[in-house]
Amino acid sequence: MCGIVGYVGKNNNSLHVLIEGLKSLEYRGYDSAGVAINDNGKIKIIKSEGNISKLENKLNMDIKSNLGIGHTRWATHGKPCENNSHPHRVGKITLVHNGIIENYEKIKKYLIDCGYIFKTDTDTEIACALIDKIYNETNDKLLTMKKANEIIEGSFAFGIIFDDDMENIYTMRKDSPLIIALGENENYIASDVPAILKFTNKYILLEKDEYAIINEKEVKVYDNNLKEIEKQVNTYEGSMEVAMKNGYEHFMLKEINDEPKVILDTYKQFVNNDLSEIIDNMPDLSKYDNIDIVACGSAYHAGLVGKSLIEEYANIPVNVELASEYRYKKNFCNEKTLTILVSQSGETADTLAALRKAKNSNTDTLGIINVVSSSIARESDNVLYIKAGAEISVATTKAYSAQVLMLSLIAINKSIINGNISKDEAKDLLKDLKKLPDDIAGIIDRKEEFDKVAEQIYDNDDVFFLGRGIDYALSMEGSLKLKEISYIHSEAYAAGELKHGTISLIETKTPVIAIVTDDKIDEKTVSNIKEVKARGADVTLITTEELNKKYDKSDFYDRKIVVPSTNRFFQPLLTILPLQLLSYEVAKLRGESIDQPRNLAKSVTVE
Ligand code: M6R
Repeated sequence: MCGIVGYVGKNNNSLHVLIEGLKSLEYRGYDSAGVAINDNGKIKIIKSEGNISKLENKLNMDIKSNLGIGHTRWATHGKPCENNSHPHRVGKITLVHNGIIENYEKIKKYLIDCGYIFKTDTDTEIACALIDKIYNETNDKLLTMKKANEIIEGSFAFGIIFDDDMENIYTMRKDSPLIIALGENENYIASDVPAILKFTNKYILLEKDEYAIINEKEVKVYDNNLKEIEKQVNTYEGSMEVAMKNGYEHFMLKEINDEPKVILDTYKQFVNNDLSEIIDNMPDLSKYDNIDIVACGSAYHAGLVGKSLIEEYANIPVNVELASEYRYKKNFCNEKTLTILVSQSGETADTLAALRKAKNSNTDTLGIINVVSSSIARESDNVLYIKAGAEISVATTKAYSAQVLMLSLIAINKSIINGNISKDEAKDLLKDLKKLPDDIAGIIDRKEEFDKVAEQIYDNDDVFFLGRGIDYALSMEGSLKLKEISYIHSEAYAAGELKHGTISLIETKTPVIAIVTDDKIDEKTVSNIKEVKARGADVTLITTEELNKKYDKSDFYDRKIVVPSTNRFFQPLLTILPLQLLSYEVAKLRGESIDQPRNLAKSVTVE
């Protein structure tokens, strides 16, 4: 949520680096953007409503500058407009901010009493004024940051320029992520690694309550006692290509096409010749007799798939919670509970808070995370990395699928431990697992077939998704994907629940996407589909090759999409693809901004 980038360097390259960095961070927010640079000893600020290209149009890229900070915003306090966009400037301080200042009203009142006048609706301007006030009193920059940290409540990372020091960028963080990247005669700050990947892959992670001073030659990091500390320098392993479109029209489509490789890379961390290798290559799950899965959005939907599989095959109870609910409710975990936090970014504020709550209840925690060294990855007792690589499109696809795979592997692991999967079954599962990447690629190759279905539904105001059990969990993800990028109202319903109210919304031609892949309850779902069909719905059936044998000639659907059959652990990874591709095409036909849907941001680092 919001992206920060900063540059200080001998090559006087700040405008170029800031714009490139902000473009890579645009997935974190794109309501408005701005930069502040050292322009011959004076701060020059240029801001714009809208995305980075609008800002770029306002800039004279020939200006040479040794130092600058930039920001792309996802509005929290105050509407998205030029005035509210960052950088903010008060007195001698220019600043960019990621996060939310919770006690800003109290601080604002105090500062107004001290004579400060505010021009924006943001919490950030208050922080800027506070830092200015403290600096006027202390004349000590490090001490100023520490004192501001003691006063400000909430989550934040700041990039700060002091008017009397155009050689250094100052930075501090509480709960919002920040990295310091290291180049040759130039150094950088950023809220995420992709921002600096074009320039360097070496970086330092700034931790909570740490402060740093960065100039072209060196980086000094201080702890909360203002004692200088040594920091580990990390090297980003992923390639720049993963963060590029590679000829695809949108990141979303490129990322769907990454799925065969992502699935392979994810499972091969644990399994090679024998599925039981999974037990040795994953954290030991033997002691747990119940599991809590906590996550937000699509990661929560992945958790629901995991619940179905773990309960059915490992035979232990699984509780799936939205992180924003979990953090404020009574939980019943104990020392036999494993709490799994699922998050692509590893920075989602509610999931991070849920992790901390779980740790306070003395339950073991396991993160299923994509972004290496992110906050949830670092704070969890154990972490399993999905290998999705950089995911840029706000609508998650490949990371969701890798999360589902990881939870399926956990279900298999626990089922083997509990004696519910035999050796022969394990062999068959391994065969299917190895076939998955090709099966996925085969479905993606059929994109044109799904595009035709998209043509049938894109011009509607409401779409319904139906399914039972695991297919209901997939319906929820299909529905979120569609509404998130196409802005069509859509709802996912447990098929059996429809007649308890919602069926009244079904009219002639209402599009219904019905998912039927579970041969234990297919007939139940089919009878619900017949109920909507009888009321005029336009039904697209998504089913498996196996079940298609049974329903091939039926008349309860208008069209169908048939995906290959595999075992129940991996079927969701095939069934989800037409739903992802369908949403993509519907949004495209409607001319929407697919990778950057309105009002959203990729990582939600505020509550
Ligand atoms: O980074 P996370 O996996 O924690 O993010 C969770 C949700 O914000 C995310 O899945 C969101 O729902 C996606 N935009 C859905 O496509």
